[in-house]
Amino acid sequence: MVYEICRQIATPPAIFFYRRLRNVVAPSWHGSRCVTVDQARSDSDARITLGQGHDQLQLDDIAEWFCTLPIDVAMLEPFALAHFKLSRFDRPGGFLHGFKERVLDVWQAALAANDFTWDRCSPIIFISGPGCGTGYHMDVSQVMAWQLYGQKRFCGLRDAERWAPKDIRLSYKQQTLIRPDELTDDDALCYDMVFGDMLWNTLLTPHWVVAGDEASMSINLSHGGLRLNGHLAPFEAEHEAFCRDYPDKAPPPPSAMY
Ligand SMILES: [Fe+2]
Repeated sequence: MVYEICRQIATPPAIFFYRRLRNVVAPSWHGSRCVTVDQARSDSDARITLGQGHDQLQLDDIAEWFCTLPIDVAMLEPFALAHFKLSRFDRPGGFLHGFKERVLDVWQAALAANDFTWDRCSPIIFISGPGCGTGYHMDVSQVMAWQLYGQKRFCGLRDAERWAPKDIRLSYKQQTLIRPDELTDDDALCYDMVFGDMLWNTLLTPHWVVAGDEASMSINLSHGGLRLNGHLAPFEAEHEAFCRDYPDKAPPPPSAMY
């Protein structure tokens, strides 16, 4: 898989899909989905939004309402929960106990062994209610999405450059990108992700994600400053140059955290 990332990072933007990695998933995560969502929603840094509106990223906060629901009821409601500080749950009894040692460290060692360096490599969880997800948007990150519970349909574009040319990429601000009316199903490149599937999505390329008919969870490994033999991928090199020349105008990357 890292070999394919090596090939991909030097070629035009695309998304790559990996179905063969489900056997490496930590078996302890097969526990109750309700326990996972209940732990995640109980943390004050959880971002809980409505998870609807697939033509655009929408972040309407519903945490107060969502956290009052019995967990088995909450699992059936429209929601999208994201959490960016996963060390909270990497502890005995936490739903990610052992994550750093068994996943994050292993992943980073594989990248390093294949001549990558990086400035940022942070995991993020995304849990979506039935039929919910993340609307049309871009990330200022190179992302490896890893499906752990339920199903999600992850869609990118066959020709990202056509739909998000350089001027749009470099002026991008979160929640400002709207799915073009003329974009058809034939323009999309969609993958149905089930337990253990992984998908690589390139920095600053449009995509959207929709869950199946039950609550589902993925973990994204979000990278910044990812270099292969000292070289950034084309879109990240372009973004870094723009940040250097116009620090007030460039879309800010996420900060590293765990
Ligand atoms: Fe994204």
